[in-house]
Amino acid sequence: MGKVLVIYHSNTGNTEAMAKAVAEGASYVPGTTVVTKKALEATAQDVLGADAVAFGCPTNFAYMAGAMKHFFDTSFFSLREKVTDKPYVAFVNTGRNIPDALNALERICGENLKLKKAAEQNALVHGKPTPEALTKCRDLGTALAQKAA
Ligand SMILES: Cc1cc2nc3c(=O)[nH]c(=O)nc-3n(C[C@H](O)[C@H](O)[C@H](O)COP(=O)(O)O)c2cc1C
Repeated sequence: MGKVLVIYHSNTGNTEAMAKAVAEGASYVPGTTVVTKKALEATAQDVLGADAVAFGCPTNFAYMAGAMKHFFDTSFFSLREKVTDKPYVAFVNTGRNIPDALNALERICGENLKLKKAAEQNALVHGKPTPEALTKCRDLGTALAQKAA
């Protein structure tokens, strides 16, 4: 029985559409429970209680959106050394298709928190997600839930 947590921030809905697709894909794995939380409402306890976590946000000012950064800023000391090897995926929406925010997310998840990447390639989507982009997000959610099972 895997518990998948999707934490995301979205200003205008593009990342939210991706988050919903990731959650849907995770739900395809039998026995998976999926919980979705906004970054400003999520807590370290949510992550500690999950078997696998997806993080998503837009690129703002060439970095991850402040709300997502705030989540890491306020939960890092509670999570450090307690989430090593927990599977994660990341998804980012951008205006210009440059992976600066995705790189930053992956760095915090991988190098700082030592989470384990659950899919070879995380999702970087430009603007309103196309049906193909949403399929990629669903696949990402499924891959994550398979690691949580
Ligand atoms: C304040 C602000 C700063 C932004 N800075 C960047 C940026 O540096 N690079 C980029 O590619 N897109 C940038 N964008 C565009 C957003 O990443 C893009 O519109 C994205 O689709 C928003 O996702 P959302 O609908 O989930 O909020 C910025 C948007 C805002 C509002």
